[in-house]
Amino acid sequence: MTQKAMDIPTQLAARIDKLALEAPSLPVLSEAEQATLKAEIKTLLKAQNAQIVAHFYVDEALQSLAEETGGLVADSLEMANFGAQSDADTIVVCGVRFMGETAKMLSPEKTILMPDIEATCSLDLGCPADEFAEFCAEHPDYTVVVYANTSAEVKAIADWVVTSGNALQIVTHLKEQGQKIIWAPDRHLGDWIEKETGIEMLRWQGHCIVHDEFKTFELKQLKEQHPNAKVLVHPESPAEVVELADVVGSTKVLINAVKTMDDQEFIVATDLGIFYKMQQLAPNKTLLVAPTTDREAACKSCAHCPWMAMNGLQNLLSCLKDKTGEILVDEAIRLKALGSLDKMLEFSRNAGLVKK
Ligand code: 13P
Ligand code: SF4
Repeated sequence: MTQKAMDIPTQLAARIDKLALEAPSLPVLSEAEQATLKAEIKTLLKAQNAQIVAHFYVDEALQSLAEETGGLVADSLEMANFGAQSDADTIVVCGVRFMGETAKMLSPEKTILMPDIEATCSLDLGCPADEFAEFCAEHPDYTVVVYANTSAEVKAIADWVVTSGNALQIVTHLKEQGQKIIWAPDRHLGDWIEKETGIEMLRWQGHCIVHDEFKTFELKQLKEQHPNAKVLVHPESPAEVVELADVVGSTKVLINAVKTMDDQEFIVATDLGIFYKMQQLAPNKTLLVAPTTDREAACKSCAHCPWMAMNGLQNLLSCLKDKTGEILVDEAIRLKALGSLDKMLEFSRNAGLVKK
């Protein structure tokens, strides 16, 4: 019988939780300290023809700095597209490691820096390349589709790379071609794609430690207390939470919903970092965070990614000043992964999901 899903070993899951708990916290900076650091960073960005490409989950000081200096704040799809199209010599990726690696693989001639290259992702950690390669080798007639939240080595095994901003469209396209799909690594995003497209995939069973925590019972209670609120959910959340959503989509889709919908109140099931952009675009709307695991417990994320939180002004300055945190990718791996990354961007540009 065909194996339908590949579970993550308990030991690996425990190691991921431990790493999340051990992620370092950055010091809180005064406004004066922030202003001094920002001024220094701006000077170095100019001198080095460098741009900041930041994810919606990083600290608001970094998001505002990216925008003030001609960089970008975006979801992972737009981050990849912008990096590939930018004519800067250096790109500073404020986010997690897979985002830096993607930028490097698409632009090997550019210097790609990150404030902290140890900033990882539980989905990436939960899909080791060797084991994934074995799983794929058992099913040679399957098309391998991997989420962008994976290592360069896993992307090198894949036929397609997708993000939450294009996964539905790409899987629908593959389904129309009659292809059988291996999906990795996010089980919840996989659930959502299966439900929306009607396709059945062979699935890796990874999860995001942040989105996995959103809780159905507590969310229903919050909805009862706020009957007019619309529920916005990132598809890395559990299926029962996704079922309660009015809008499901990538970070960009959720931000757009707050901006464009007439409703005044929203319950948001994704990382809290997104509130900065939502509030900036819709200052008069009320945003409530969807409930996570018991808030009294020692929390490993509580709706904020411990690895996104490793990006700060101080380490951003050091990475530009001392060239620490440079992302390098083995050339053989890069060349293998490039095909699927290029295909993803070409598909997304043609589908009007990102700029041509
Ligand atoms: P987006 O591609 O929707 O920005 O999501 C990336 C991510 O890591 C969500 O946890
Ligand atoms: Fe990975 Fe989840 Fe953090 Fe996104 S929020 S980077 S999926 S651990």
